Amino acid sequence: MNIYIAEYAGYCFGVKRAVDIAINTIKNTENTLIYSLGPLVHNTQVVEKLNEKGLKIIDNINVLKEGKVIIRAHGIPYDLQKEIEDLNLELIDCTCPYVKAIHKRVKKYYNNGYKIIIIGDKLHPEVIGINGWCNNDAIIVNTKEDAETIPKYDKICVVSQTTNNIDIFNDISNIIKNKGNHVKIFNTICNATNLRQTATKELAKKVDAMIVIGGYHSSNTNKLVEISKKYCKNVYHIETSKDLPLQKLSKFNTIGITAGASTPDWIIKEVIDAMNNNKDNNEIMEAIENSIVNIHRGDIVKGKVIYVT
Ligand code: F3S
Repeated sequence: MNIYIAEYAGYCFGVKRAVDIAINTIKNTENTLIYSLGPLVHNTQVVEKLNEKGLKIIDNINVLKEGKVIIRAHGIPYDLQKEIEDLNLELIDCTCPYVKAIHKRVKKYYNNGYKIIIIGDKLHPEVIGINGWCNNDAIIVNTKEDAETIPKYDKICVVSQTTNNIDIFNDISNIIKNKGNHVKIFNTICNATNLRQTATKELAKKVDAMIVIGGYHSSNTNKLVEISKKYCKNVYHIETSKDLPLQKLSKFNTIGITAGASTPDWIIKEVIDAMNNNKDNNEIMEAIENSIVNIHRGDIVKGKVIYVT
């Protein structure tokens, strides 16, 4: 069995930054409670580890009288940020800078009279957060059918959830561009998403089976699953090594591994360990340990087998 890892997989810049800030805050804080408003990232295992270290998840800030509140990588609406500040709680903003840039853009165009349209999932915290920077007045669309129902406006500004699929974004944008006299379309899909999706697509085309590692509720991981299914017949979405369908996998010759942007390297390592129980896999361990933000695994994926069982 030959196993390959996608050229880009696992933690993106924004998630790594949020987790690092949270860990440092916990380390450097004494006698003060630290809260995360909603799960810091969409990965149960990472959230559990942070919780063990002392980060408590809350849904509502109104219960708080004191402490530090960490804002997750997905960001929050303007009103909520204001409320936290007004309560005199210390706000530690882990919003990904790419999401922050969307907030600023949306606010600017909304104030200049543009109708804001967000391409994304209206229930996703990132989209809820973005909408909160234009007075919750955006139209949110996720399909071409949704886009067809948009009425005409004079000025329109379009942004995307950062984890969207580029093909869906292009299809929907093409419809919206005829809905106004002045239409500004901003592709705000982040580069980390593009890289992971492209690497997944390329790998899925070449292998018999794909394993996608990441939270079952993680939007970007689910996109990787969708893309994998388009190009590969056998796709398994798992959260940890415990979910590996080892027996089913044993019949394949080539297996590709990819991981969502909120999947830490230690989970990827555990999965590889579980698949490679009896082998010396120092090579891949080293590659993962040396990896930095936007892990580049080009040398491994360019046709080279990582290890053979
Ligand atoms: Fe930020 Fe992109 Fe990750 S928006 S949180 S770097 S997927």
